[in-house]
Amino acid sequence: MSLNLTTWEESELFEKALSQLFVEETPLHEAINYSLLDGGKRLRPRLCFEAIKALGFDPALGLPVACAIEMVHTYSLIHDDLPCMDDDDLRRGKPTCHKVYGEAMAVLAGDALLTKAFEVIAVSPINNFYDLKRYLLELSYASGSTQLIQGQVFDMIAENNPKITLEQLKAIHCAKTGALIKASLRLGGMVAEANLQELEALTEYGEHIGLAFQIRDDILDATETSANLGKTAGKDKQANKSTYVSILGLEQATLELNKLIDEACISIEKLTVETPVNLQNLAQALKI
Ligand code: IPE
Ligand code: IPE
Ligand code: MG
Ligand code: MG
Ligand code: MG
Repeated sequence: MSLNLTTWEESELFEKALSQLFVEETPLHEAINYSLLDGGKRLRPRLCFEAIKALGFDPALGLPVACAIEMVHTYSLIHDDLPCMDDDDLRRGKPTCHKVYGEAMAVLAGDALLTKAFEVIAVSPINNFYDLKRYLLELSYASGSTQLIQGQVFDMIAENNPKITLEQLKAIHCAKTGALIKASLRLGGMVAEANLQELEALTEYGEHIGLAFQIRDDILDATETSANLGKTAGKDKQANKSTYVSILGLEQATLELNKLIDEACISIEKLTVETPVNLQNLAQALKI
């Protein structure tokens, strides 16, 4: 099943906000906008907006945070594709940033995206229910040296290592991909003045969805075409990556993905009195 994220309510608002971040016409901004502005599924911002709406707040309040999350994600993709990392030529349906602008510019585009993410939050008029520091900490923790980047380090080390255990792989997936997805939901919750219990429900849902999303990515790499993915299919096997497919096989990996989605849907029931249907539907759309 393909994830249909093409039509969603905040799409236009969000794309407009993203397109207004790097407006001066410089070679750096051209490289950044090339990677940032089209082709992505926008799953993380969308989860952020849905968390806000589920708690009864206006999603527009979450624009700065959602832009920041997408900038961190896009930076991580640009760097992930570099020759010294996964060495990929195709991303979001077009040549990777370094293929078009060169490696040095791609590294710098990633650096600038990461930096700008924190600036956008720092200058945004977010509510005072949570201190601005909490927003900055949430994003820096998720993208930092014990989560996203640590996950990328272990992902590299796990290459050509058939001895890696499922527990170790799960930790890698939760760090490299899960942490930012979880933060997208928590940050949405914070914008919507979530209390502790509400934040916990979003966290639990985010943990399940976050791991599920990387398992799904592993499965699609093995089963889909490059044209459908907008990135080179079969890359994990070629690079001898440790993935849920390499360790569990396709069938078990799919069962694990779908089980996590069902668990996510149960966790999120606790968020509000009425079941947050959109968050459940988004989760279900990730099933294979
Ligand atoms: C790809 O993420 C990298 C992973 C963490 C699995 P997405 O599949 O969300 O990539 P885009 O944003 O749609 O390009
Ligand atoms: C990427 O994981 C995770 C991050 C960018 C943090 P992958 O290497 O599996 O993502 P794809 O398959 O290249 O999109
Ligand atoms: Mg990678
Ligand atoms: Mg990759
Ligand atoms: Mg992948």
